[in-house]
Amino acid sequence: MASQNAGIIGMGHSYPEGILTNADLEKIVETSDEWITTRTGIKQRHKAAENEYTSMFGTEAAKRALEKAGLRPEDIELIVCATTTPDQILPCTGAIIQAQLGAHNAAGMDVFAACSGFLYGITMVESMIRTGQIKYALVIGAEVLTKYVDYTDRGTCILFGDGAGAAVLGPVPEDKGILATKIRSDGRFEEQLYCPGGGTKYGTTHETIDKRMHYFKMKGNELFKVAVRSMAEISAEMIEKAGLAVNDIDLVIPHQANQRITDAVASRLGVPEEKVYSNIAMHGNTSSASIPIAMDECIESGRITEGTTVLLTAFGGGVTWGGTVLRF
Ligand code: COA
Repeated sequence: MASQNAGIIGMGHSYPEGILTNADLEKIVETSDEWITTRTGIKQRHKAAENEYTSMFGTEAAKRALEKAGLRPEDIELIVCATTTPDQILPCTGAIIQAQLGAHNAAGMDVFAACSGFLYGITMVESMIRTGQIKYALVIGAEVLTKYVDYTDRGTCILFGDGAGAAVLGPVPEDKGILATKIRSDGRFEEQLYCPGGGTKYGTTHETIDKRMHYFKMKGNELFKVAVRSMAEISAEMIEKAGLAVNDIDLVIPHQANQRITDAVASRLGVPEEKVYSNIAMHGNTSSASIPIAMDECIESGRITEGTTVLLTAFGGGVTWGGTVLRF
């Protein structure tokens, strides 16, 4: 069967208007703007209101991506929503977004791969377009993490923010689009970042709530080291698989977890600072939404134009990680 290159043909992003600054956090937990800035690079993060939830941002981002792609919702055959913070356990957020968009010819599904979810979605969809199974798909990263964050735990509550980014994928000419992509996980590191309560292992009870088991738990220090190693390794592997050298990469967009993680990955790869995009100061860590939000910001500002070769790399709870090289 002839192989069809798949690429991103439109992007959009959206986030709540509400903002939580480091100064706001100083009033909630024992921390300081200085500590948060030097340890993470984060200055503020967007925070959903009580009546705002994940699909709202996912749908808005998807609408904008469809508009940029010049497609109608009916043209989409698959909606992959990467999220760790779904609207509810059933139905999946992908199907909820499908209804909100009116994408009646699509299948909607969720990918649960934490911060690497967008790259998981891209990797799955790429092969479906390449083999001709589908023509157009939406891959969305959407999160309202602030509703899963324990605002008594200063080790995690300073990191996370809310938002969504979306990409329309479709056929593109040869030597454009996704040139190499790969996803990985290692469940042995489960307890580095997890949320134990509310599932079938520890169903929601008064006890699980009293023990705050419905919130994210993290061993930040250990995660840091695994994140740097995994992202650097898979990035180098994907650059080689794409038949490129590090110098051929015009722009690196890593998952925005921590400025120090980004700097360490770039330094291991030998990529100069000016080729690495960071928006962590303004958004914090938005998990699966961070890469598509950052990509769309780069398109809007002209850092990504036709012909730009981009390296994406992500790491998240699970642990999961991934790398993608693509040319616009
Ligand atoms: N304000 C002030 N002090 C804080 C703090 C905060 N918000 N959070 C932790 N501390 C304290 C700790 O209690 C500890 O104090 P101690 O030495 O008296 O015990 C000290 O700061 C150092 O803590 P440590 O956890 O070693 O700091 P760190 O340099 O590793 O930074 C993270 C913590 C969370 C910022 C960092 O580990 C990190 O970003 N890890 C990766 C997390 C991540 O990206 N997760 C998502 C993956 S997708």
